[in-house]
Amino acid sequence: MSARSKATFGQVASGARDEALYLILRVLRLPLDSPGSVMRRRLPAAQSAAVGEALRRRFVDREPAAYITGEAWLGGLRFHVDERVLIPRSYFVEVLEGQVDPWIGDPARVTRAADVCTGSGCLAVLLARHFKGAMVDATDLIAGALEVAAANVRLHRLSGRVRLLEGDLLLPAGAARYDVILSNPPYEPSARVDRLPLEFRREPRVALDGGSDGLQTIRRLVRQAAARLRPRGILMIEVGGCREAFEREFAHLEPHWFHTQDGSDCVCLIQVERLARRHGRARS
Ligand SMILES: C[S@@+](CC[C@H](N)C(=O)[O-])C[C@H]1O[C@@H](n2cnc3c(N)ncnc32)[C@H](O)[C@@H]1O
Repeated sequence: MSARSKATFGQVASGARDEALYLILRVLRLPLDSPGSVMRRRLPAAQSAAVGEALRRRFVDREPAAYITGEAWLGGLRFHVDERVLIPRSYFVEVLEGQVDPWIGDPARVTRAADVCTGSGCLAVLLARHFKGAMVDATDLIAGALEVAAANVRLHRLSGRVRLLEGDLLLPAGAARYDVILSNPPYEPSARVDRLPLEFRREPRVALDGGSDGLQTIRRLVRQAAARLRPRGILMIEVGGCREAFEREFAHLEPHWFHTQDGSDCVCLIQVERLARRHGRARS
């Protein structure tokens, strides 16, 4: 392995040491919380070769660690992943934990929710686990992504409550209306996607590319959501680095920005009353 690896991080761990450790433990099928002493032993040749190959793929070929192991973790939950889906790392994991309920009142009133742009299905699973009485629709444009999502819905035993739908944003759900719609859509400006480090460019472009200004998908989602929310419904969108552009364009919707630990505060909530005033009429 080259000592000058240009590997970049942020998809699985934040640095080389943690990511190498993660790969070694996974290849050796050891628990992720194994004590450091497990590293101080001689490995049989086959295991040593398997570890070497995983590290070569990560640090020389610069494959994301999650695609090498076929798994990713979000909110303490394990998800299947492969090259058909974005590696789960959404800020919604922070937001759903404690920040959303004050906007809902009684979480039990949420009986229908949607995860738009579901990818691996990770947020649909978190949504269904948070709103325990809700049926969740999860949509994605890409059939292959929905196959991964289906595996994750089965893994978390939510097949009875999460429905996977193929198509553009909310369109495949027909006339369904929701108490909660959330989305982590593609939001990187196209030119920025072109310049991303190799590991990130190995993720599906359709999961990242939000068009020339990053807001192309978001704009259409805001328009569609206006007619797809029930009274007192909420729309929540992760907008990444597009927060300023989003605020300029959608200030009239008075978005509330949730706090995130890294200070990016890039997930917003819009109430249906504001959307309906501008983009259509909310009906029950
Ligand atoms: C940023 S990824 C988010 C995946 C997952 N929700 C997460 O947080 O890890 C965006 C996803 O949106 C999907 N997508 C892109 N454009 C779409 C559209 N117009 N309608 C539905 N899904 C779309 C992509 O296939 C990709 O799976």
